[in-house]
Amino acid sequence: PVAERAPSQCVGPDYKAASEKPQATVSKQLDHENVTVLSQTPQLIALLTMIRDKNTNRADFIFHSNRIIRLLVEEGLNHLPVIPHTITTPVNGLTYAGVKFEGKICGVSIMRAGEAMEQALRECCRSVRIGKILIQRDEDTSKPRLFYDKLPEDISNRWVLLLDPMLATGGSALMAVDVLLSKGVPEERILFLNLIASPEGTASFAKKFPKVRIVTSFIDQGLNEKNYIVPGLGDFGDRFYTL
Ligand code: PRP
Ligand code: URA
Repeated sequence: PVAERAPSQCVGPDYKAASEKPQATVSKQLDHENVTVLSQTPQLIALLTMIRDKNTNRADFIFHSNRIIRLLVEEGLNHLPVIPHTITTPVNGLTYAGVKFEGKICGVSIMRAGEAMEQALRECCRSVRIGKILIQRDEDTSKPRLFYDKLPEDISNRWVLLLDPMLATGGSALMAVDVLLSKGVPEERILFLNLIASPEGTASFAKKFPKVRIVTSFIDQGLNEKNYIVPGLGDFGDRFYTL
């Protein structure tokens, strides 16, 4: 069943009056402590408008998806632990009390669509290790099937940024987390980076894995009879790689 309409909101900076800002459909807010939704800024909404448009060609789809993915990676990194780190600047020997990242990370993409998120991760984390899990959703039943995984040997000692742009029923992402847990990765060290999620998929994910943090740019309206996200953007993998 298709859920009720997503909320509409004036989009723009706080200092502008509502009458100066256009109305747009923004992400639903769900009551799950482990879900972080990116701020619904004019920039993000414009990028999402572009990639949702069925008339957007593949080159534009790739360019604008990449920009959203970069925002997701940048936000995802904010959820990794940091420790105090004080440095000395070149000016008068003065110090600056800052922080630095603690701990090792790796990316794990759910093939094929999740591979589209690897480049942004590499741009932010030079020479990051990346594992792969090949899970495909059956087109008739929407059930996921696991075909292959190849992960860093020491993955159980790393924070894992799990990459997949679409969370529909949640079946594929849940299966991927099961693979990571079977390799010894603690649930609380998994961050799932996602472009568009359904409320249903997010709820099942949050129920089964309450310690995995989901960072998404948008919780959409719902799912249709074929378990596609609505209004969604169609098949992400097809639009990014083959259409
Ligand atoms: C898509 C998407 C997710 C999954 C989401 O992949 O990238 O992995 O479907 O659906 P779910 O939440 O209902 O499991 P798909 O299996 O179509 O393969 P692709 O990446 O090759 O397009
Ligand atoms: N996979 C996609 O690419 N899109 C959907 O809406 C659902 C699964």
